[in-house]
Order: sequence, then C-alpha cells, then structure tokens
Amino acid sequence: MSATEILQIFALADTNYEMSSPGKIIANVFYEPSTRTRLSFELAAKRIGADVITFEPETSSEKKGEGTQDTALTLQALGANVIVVRHPQWSIPKIISGFVNRCNVINAGDGSNEHPTQALLDLYTMKQQLGRIAGLHVGIVGDVHHSRVAHSLYPALAKMGAKTTLIGPKHLVSSRPGPYVSYDLDAKLPELDVCYVLRAQKERYHVSDEALRAGMRVTENFNHLSRYKLTNERAEKLPPHAIVMHPGPMNRGVEIDSSVADSPRAWPIQAQVTNGIKVRSALLHWLLT
Ligand code: NCD
Repeated sequence: MSATEILQIFALADTNYEMSSPGKIIANVFYEPSTRTRLSFELAAKRIGADVITFEPETSSEKKGEGTQDTALTLQALGANVIVVRHPQWSIPKIISGFVNRCNVINAGDGSNEHPTQALLDLYTMKQQLGRIAGLHVGIVGDVHHSRVAHSLYPALAKMGAKTTLIGPKHLVSSRPGPYVSYDLDAKLPELDVCYVLRAQKERYHVSDEALRAGMRVTENFNHLSRYKLTNERAEKLPPHAIVMHPGPMNRGVEIDSSVADSPRAWPIQAQVTNGIKVRSALLHWLLT
C-alpha cells in the first residue's frame, strides 16, 4: 500500500461507514493461534454488517487430506468475499490469492515474514497517541529477525516519514537492510518517541516459559535477547512524552516487566487492540466497496 492509501484507510477508520457491507462474507482462516487478530477481524466484519465464517484447520476436511487450494476454492464457492489468512509458512496468503479470482485475500501473519494489518493499526495508534507519524523516532526492540510485526512495521514507518531504529542483539536485528540498527538499548532510549517492544518468539527456540523467566541459558540467542528486556529503570530513560507499544501477546517478565506494561506510558498497548477493530473495519470496507 502507498502512503496515500494508508491515509485513506485511517480517514475511513475515523468516519462513520458502519453497516456498509450487508451480506458480504468474511472467512477467517487461521492455521496459527491468535486472540487479537482473529477476534478483531470478526468484530470488524460484524461492524460493517458482513457475515463471518470461521475455518478451523483442526476440524476441517484438511484432516481428510484436502489441500489449501481446494480449501480456498471451497470458501470462494461458499461466497466468501474476503479470506483472512494466518499461516506459519511464508507467502501462503499470496499463494492463496493466486487460487481464487472472486475474493480478496488479507495476510493476517505469514510465519516470520509479514503482518501488514498489525502495521496499519500500529501506525494509526501512533498518530492517535502522538498526533503525527512523520518525524517520529521509533525503536523496534528485541527479536526483530523472527518478527513478522517488525518486518511489516518498519517499511510502513519509512513510507510515512518516520525514522526507525531496530534495537537488539546483533544476530537478531541485522537480517534486513534499510532502517538504522543499534545494539545498545540504554543509549537509544532517550532519543525515542515510541519504544515498540516485540514478543520474544519463543516458539522458534523451543524453550519453556519457566526457563525464559528464570533467564536460563537455554540458547545463546535467548541469552542475548534477555539483555533487551524493558525494565522500569530503562523506561525511565525515555523522554517524558514517549510511549511504549507491544503487539501482544506480551510475555511479562521476558521482554517487558509487568511494572512497565501496567504503567500509563504503556496504555497505548490497549489502544492498539481497540484500534485493530477500527482499522480492520476500514480496510474491509475499502476492499469491499
Ligand atoms: C503478533 C503475531 O501473532 O504476529 N501478535 C498479533 O498479531 N497481535 C505478535 C507475536 O505473536 O509476536
């Protein structure tokens, strides 16, 4: 999407277009766990008057050997106008868009590749909380390498005229060219308008919650990552106006301390969730009309 299209979505999110798409059908197809994204797409669809159908891979005919292509064609034949897909593998939403010719396909997260609607709601939240996007300095902190959220957010920030610094251990931040990179969180904090904390993508490392909380030296990677936790002491280094954001789900005590997550500075984390409904309703409306 261009910056102009992103601003069109934001303008729609601010206006009254509710119940604009009666009878349209939105299919939620989630091959990976989700709370916020799936529920907010469902609420967004209902808000524009659409019907929602939910495909559950575990109880579907895919258990009888049906492939993704036939699932997509079936959803289209059932009348789906939009298919919202989350999948652990890269590019599956794009591949599905090649199987269908009468549906829009939205990527709701494909592996560690991209999560574009999260980037939209994040930008919208920054604009709402700080009054602008252009000129902001956003630090994206933690496991950038595995984070689809980061991979969608920093190109979107660049399009909107914000500056991004990716902050984390060397091997987890230098995977993609483009934005600034820093390995020193403490040094960068005083410069940031937004401290965007990423979830430690523990499922990629196969370690338990207990191990992470105990700071166990399970892998070299996590050992490095734990040095980037946003503690209270660190949050105090941010400028007074700066906000803390997180896409959720948060691992309290792993990438962010509870005392920070519950502080007024981090209230935008709840706004991100609420704004997800507005922005996704606007996006669905925009696609359907
Ligand atoms: C993210 C996801 O699933 O990509 N969560 C979300 O959609 N709000 C972030 C994550 O799991 O790290």
